[in-house]
Amino acid sequence: MKPFKLIFTEKKITTINLVITCFLFLVFSACSKPEKKRIINFPETDLAAEHLIPKPLKIVSSKNGFPLDAFTSIHTATGLEGFTEVGMFLAEKIKAKTGLNLPVNKNKTASIISINQVDGASTDNPEGYQLIITADSILLNAPTAAGAFRGIQTIRQLIPETSDKTLAKNEIWVIPTGSINDAPQFEYRGAMLDVSRHFFSVADVKKFMDVLAYYKYNTLHLHLSDDQGWRIEIKSWPKLTEIGGRSEVGGKSGGFYTQEEYTEIVNYGLARHITIVPEIDMPGHTNAASFSYPFLNGNGKKLEYYEGTKVGFSTFDTRKDTVYAFIDDVVREISALTPGPYFHIGGDESHVTKKEDYVYFVERVEKIVQKHGKRMIGWDEVATANVDATSVAQWWASKENAEKALAKNMKVILSPANKAYLDMKYDTLSEYGLHWAAYIPVDTAYIWNPESYLPKKNILGIEAPLWTETVSNMEELAYLAFPRAIGYAELGWTIQENRDWENYKVRLANQTFYLDRMNIKYYPSALIDWKKQEDREATDLMD
Ligand code: ACM
Repeated sequence: MKPFKLIFTEKKITTINLVITCFLFLVFSACSKPEKKRIINFPETDLAAEHLIPKPLKIVSSKNGFPLDAFTSIHTATGLEGFTEVGMFLAEKIKAKTGLNLPVNKNKTASIISINQVDGASTDNPEGYQLIITADSILLNAPTAAGAFRGIQTIRQLIPETSDKTLAKNEIWVIPTGSINDAPQFEYRGAMLDVSRHFFSVADVKKFMDVLAYYKYNTLHLHLSDDQGWRIEIKSWPKLTEIGGRSEVGGKSGGFYTQEEYTEIVNYGLARHITIVPEIDMPGHTNAASFSYPFLNGNGKKLEYYEGTKVGFSTFDTRKDTVYAFIDDVVREISALTPGPYFHIGGDESHVTKKEDYVYFVERVEKIVQKHGKRMIGWDEVATANVDATSVAQWWASKENAEKALAKNMKVILSPANKAYLDMKYDTLSEYGLHWAAYIPVDTAYIWNPESYLPKKNILGIEAPLWTETVSNMEELAYLAFPRAIGYAELGWTIQENRDWENYKVRLANQTFYLDRMNIKYYPSALIDWKKQEDREATDLMD
């Protein structure tokens, strides 16, 4: 009561004054309310999937329009981890595409985008989401910030390339109304980048992640070590980068990520709900490590830098305890910097490791990975060892190994080289790439059914690896990765019944505008009738 009285006496406001003040306040606030609901006569538009990749589970159109314009604001669940950030991310991307500067969590405006936490919004999948688009609001409901993040990618893709200047005094980007219920079919939707054969900068990795996030990828696997180079700073073993970081295919300078730079990549991923999976490939593919610390070497040969592209000639000495002490340090340091649940130990093509030594090695390293709180992933050969059901095998070459993994109740990531390797040439004319597994044109990359490989319950997900023997910069990377990585995004997300090459082709053709805006020099496959810049308006009207 005391402070109340104080205000009254200090400002000499009588009870009558107070009543008048309240009255005036009510009058003013009524006048400053958001403007009346706007009536805009939208041309009849269908909410359809023409611009959406991956294709959502279910779309219902209600043939009206939502006006995205200067009177739109974004509102998010507050006090819940990650939702405000999702709203800010959407605002930033809308600004980049339209120039609109939408407020986030400020005053409500005539049209709103509301991002809400709702359990089981679409299905019980944590990455599922529901969009309900009406003439004055877009409601995005998701159980988690990750689900909301996937949902805003759909909103981004629904925003037309051009605004309409005829519907009102201001420009409007008309988003068709209706609802979308969506969820991914697989938990793990990844790409891999080999930064060992050729080193890629933090900026390149970030740019790659930007595009992956737009297509709802949730994992980036970094192949951080190989014969040609070691790419991550390990404080307890500094020569790994001082010596092992200096080479790459062709003998150029190589490079490595400091722990701070690796953390920058991890954090960039976190902001895009992309998990980083670090890989240290062993016991084979280890020339760079052994050249840095020769006691690791198990092939008895003289060590030197390796700048060629052969595989299968190197191995750790699997019977030395000091080798496992070294691995313990490496796994410990990298795991401490990696919030995601996985650590990839490689395990492929250990052609000069004796079979019994290989098995002994994998079983011992699996324990080290588990000790540091991670779940082991290995290329399919690891299933030949007696590994745990919690470990994951990555099918790249061998059905027999994948079946061994199944017999152990392990989950499998599908990366069959003749379908999912991004480094395979498109055809005989491809500028970059290899073709030991196959030529993989854009249709072959898309037209396969993961469930024809293994029962769905055993598939953790899909990963598209990009080995970099033949590519050394972002432009060359983009040539091999895009557009095929866009198709793998759909394989990982969209159920088989909803996938169809003819339909996908049309949606892929519409990605030109986004890819051009991102300055991604994709391979312009002749199988696709790519949209041209002059088609922008016509494409919008098609919807
Ligand atoms: C691999 O391609 N060696 C996994």
